[in-house]
Amino acid sequence: MYVCLCHAVTDREIREEVERGACSLSDVQCRLRVASCCGHCEDTAREVINEQIAKAPARSQRLRTAA
Ligand code: FES
Repeated sequence: MYVCLCHAVTDREIREEVERGACSLSDVQCRLRVASCCGHCEDTAREVINEQIAKAPARSQRLRTAA
């Protein structure tokens, strides 16, 4: 789904940035322009980032045990 309509940024793109190591809105904004215009998407963007960060430890654990 589109999170940021001003810059056509999707939740998938935000999640991918977290997968690459972003851990805050400002980190995500280094590559995506989410929440840098009207700002209406900022709360949703933060929620997506936090959701993805919360999933990260479980994923890391699975990768370690699979290796
Ligand atoms: S909707 Fe994201 S900056 Fe406007």
